Amino acid sequence: MTYRIDRSYDWNYDNGPVFDGPFPDLPATPQKDFLGLKVNSRLGIAAGLLLNSRWIEVYGRLGFDILTYKTVRNRYRKCYGLPNWVTIEQDDQIDPGRLDEAQRARTGPPPDLRAVTSSVSFGMPSKAPEEWMPDVARARAALRPGQVLIVSVVASPEPGGDVSQMIGEFGELAAMAREAGAQVVEGNLSCPNVCTAEGDIFLDAALSGKIAEAMHKGADGLPVLLKLGHFADSATIAQVLRAVDGKASGVVMVNGISRRVVDGDGLPVFGEGRELSGILGHGIHGFSLDNVKTAVDIVSSDKLSLDIIAVGGVSGVEDAAHYFDAGAAAVMMGSAPMFDPALAVTLKQARPDW
Ligand SMILES: Cc1cc2nc3c(=O)[nH]c(=O)nc-3n(C[C@H](O)[C@H](O)[C@H](O)COP(=O)(O)O)c2cc1C
Repeated sequence: MTYRIDRSYDWNYDNGPVFDGPFPDLPATPQKDFLGLKVNSRLGIAAGLLLNSRWIEVYGRLGFDILTYKTVRNRYRKCYGLPNWVTIEQDDQIDPGRLDEAQRARTGPPPDLRAVTSSVSFGMPSKAPEEWMPDVARARAALRPGQVLIVSVVASPEPGGDVSQMIGEFGELAAMAREAGAQVVEGNLSCPNVCTAEGDIFLDAALSGKIAEAMHKGADGLPVLLKLGHFADSATIAQVLRAVDGKASGVVMVNGISRRVVDGDGLPVFGEGRELSGILGHGIHGFSLDNVKTAVDIVSSDKLSLDIIAVGGVSGVEDAAHYFDAGAAAVMMGSAPMFDPALAVTLKQARPDW
């Protein structure tokens, strides 16, 4: 495991990733296109695991070709205290409709490291721009040929703050990410572990459209992606996709699902005030795939020019195949590459065409 879940985010930022090597020989793969950029594969890591340029460099050397720099803000934001990441007792698929259902954290190690369901609660920490902007430049310089750097950004609205200010902040952050060296800018409109409205922006089609427009201007020619969460119905997916079409180049979906996570005594495992956290990995694959399939159908029927980039529960060849077969333009992995750093090599060996 490359991220020490028993240590703080700052420890992992300063010392990670924990990887003793050796680095694998990467399978040769034919060149492909991703948002107009040339890539070795359309396999990547979603916003989260890659805390800074060192993480980007190591996972690039492990063969992941689309690398997302963990979400940053226009100001410093402290991380929530430990624990930040726990594994969940969940062997089958989570029913997204069962909002009342609590998930139980595991006490021992998960039985199968290739099919882990886990939960994170970080609160979207960020270094100050004075720190992350030069580090994004280092991350860009560390890329190998055929690799692409996405930088994920999020606005930091004050409670009761002005919506137009938040929209403007997304635009400014897109410009900052571009200036720092991003090749693609991603706006995070969905964070299942923040306890404010910033986690639910993606459900508001009009607001998502305005953010896409502001980011499009700020990114000044770079492709813009929007990170979306789980949708309970296809009508809302259609509204959101129509609202962002022509401004964003694509959407990344889905960003886990918010649930209560409890310990063996039924108490919130992340502590008081952090009852809800994002569930990721194996258990979310089924409903993430449903959302992706619906989105691909809407893009096709409405003739939208959006790429659907899939994420959610990919820990092996079969999971990635589900998404590519559904029409995803790329497949991203959030948590599995931490448990299985050789995952990109496994996927490329099986399917050099991905
Ligand atoms: C340690 C960790 C931190 C994360 N932080 C972010 C984040 O800052 N921004 C974001 O958009 N998603 C974040 N995510 C969510 C992932 O991008 C992804 O949507 C989620 O893990 C589902 O993918 P998976 O099932 O492959 O894990 C994080 C995930 C992990 C594992």
